[in-house]
Amino acid sequence: MEHQTDRKPNFPPRVLFFPLPAQGHINAMLHLAELLAMADIDVTFLNTDHVQGQLQQRAHIQAKYAAYSGFLFRTIPDGLPKDEPRSGEQSILRVLNSMLKTTKPILKDMLLSGGVLGSDRSPYVTCIMADGIFGSLANEIGDELNIPVIHFRTISACCFWIYFAIPDIIKAGELPIRGDEDMDRIITRVPGMEAILRCRDLPSFAQIRDVEDPQLHRIVEVTRQSARAHALILNTFEDLEGPILNHIRTQCPKTYTIGPLHALLKHKLTKRLLSTTRSSKSIFEEDRSCIAWLDSQPLKSVIYISFGSLTVMTRDTLMEFWHGLVNSNKRFLWVMREDMVTGEDSEIPPELVAATKERGCLVGWAPQEEVLAHPSVGGFLTHSGWNSTLESIVAEVPMICWPNAIDQTINSRYVGEVWKVGMDMKGHKCDREIVAKMVNDLMVEKREEFQRCTAEMARLAKISIDEGGSSYCNLDQLIEDLRSVQQ
Ligand code: UDX
Repeated sequence: MEHQTDRKPNFPPRVLFFPLPAQGHINAMLHLAELLAMADIDVTFLNTDHVQGQLQQRAHIQAKYAAYSGFLFRTIPDGLPKDEPRSGEQSILRVLNSMLKTTKPILKDMLLSGGVLGSDRSPYVTCIMADGIFGSLANEIGDELNIPVIHFRTISACCFWIYFAIPDIIKAGELPIRGDEDMDRIITRVPGMEAILRCRDLPSFAQIRDVEDPQLHRIVEVTRQSARAHALILNTFEDLEGPILNHIRTQCPKTYTIGPLHALLKHKLTKRLLSTTRSSKSIFEEDRSCIAWLDSQPLKSVIYISFGSLTVMTRDTLMEFWHGLVNSNKRFLWVMREDMVTGEDSEIPPELVAATKERGCLVGWAPQEEVLAHPSVGGFLTHSGWNSTLESIVAEVPMICWPNAIDQTINSRYVGEVWKVGMDMKGHKCDREIVAKMVNDLMVEKREEFQRCTAEMARLAKISIDEGGSSYCNLDQLIEDLRSVQQ
């Protein structure tokens, strides 16, 4: 059989997507994969066996991609035993570590065996679109097989830029953090963030007490690898993170900002008169009963609560949120994932059960984009995952941010302090009084102020994805780039 390295020109381009197997990463990368497929670029989307198994249970997702003739799903093992848990933040780190150890030779073999990752029409991979978290591994494979590699980071540009600046922060003696009393100290060594970045806003991996922290060094190394990639893709838009993007481009000159990707995809599907009703890419089963519940609620009366696909919390924290929501007297729709709460089950106090029956709706997983776009939703209590942040901005829904890990801590700072599209709970104790007050501020007291800022940011987001807008044009340039790298 012919080898990938022996390939001859004239085959159409085929882009290999290689995401971290987590919902937030898969969502963003599938959006881009579909946009490329619409532009007649063939795509191979490489999932782990576990994720592919979950996707196979969602018939509408299967049908959607089957409609694109050059779109293939392929699988790769994640290296963990079959029965090992794969949900929650700690598990995803285990999956990541395992994949970093085991996937390189497998992926290289797949690329070398002509056709395994392609079709008759486009048998060979002409570009690897790697999740940036696999950046070092992908660059090594790209170098060895002479295939261009593009890094796709699913985090915000501000988080990416902080990772890049970590060695300078350490050199200046601004890290490590010296203790809890140090959390409000300003970090001055990230260009573009000189006055707003406190220790508590640093991405979780950077909130270190020891400069030798191996996890931090790995994330810095992988981030800096993006400067060696053919290009970098960020799911953001120029009017949102422009000043930081200018700094990033000093290190990664070919940085394509093509976000918010979910909105750009929807825009392109609408233009082609294709259905956008089931745009979801959830690997989890969505409970659509919440849409009927929302239909019967007054305009902008509901606060939507979701902490994404990975966050876990203690039972005590859950109770503080629940009491706070009930005490705020607002209607609420809450995503409570099966694996979200740690610790022993205990009885839910009867007053919470009664209030939830009266003005609440609980689901295990929601069609989030649709929920945020619903006219009854007036606020979002979120963990500030990057996809959720962008989805909320586009839907003009102001946020209360309860960040947990990764980029969420810096995203929430920008939401509250820079973009003014919500409030950051970080630094406050999570207790029922604070939750009730913040919900009340968001939905009543400061509602107009937040709505003005969110409407303006949503307007800018829409301009960026419309014809002639920055993300729209950058996507066109990326497509051109992908067509040209094969020659
Ligand atoms: C993680 C990180 O938190 C995030 O910051 C990073 O950039 C990507 O990986 P996650 O924690 O799951 O992702 O959060 P988020 O980025 O917000 O992604 C969650 C996705 O799941 C969103 O697209 C959201 O629409 C979707 N979702 C969430 C649902 O479809 N239904 C739900 O009930 C909850």
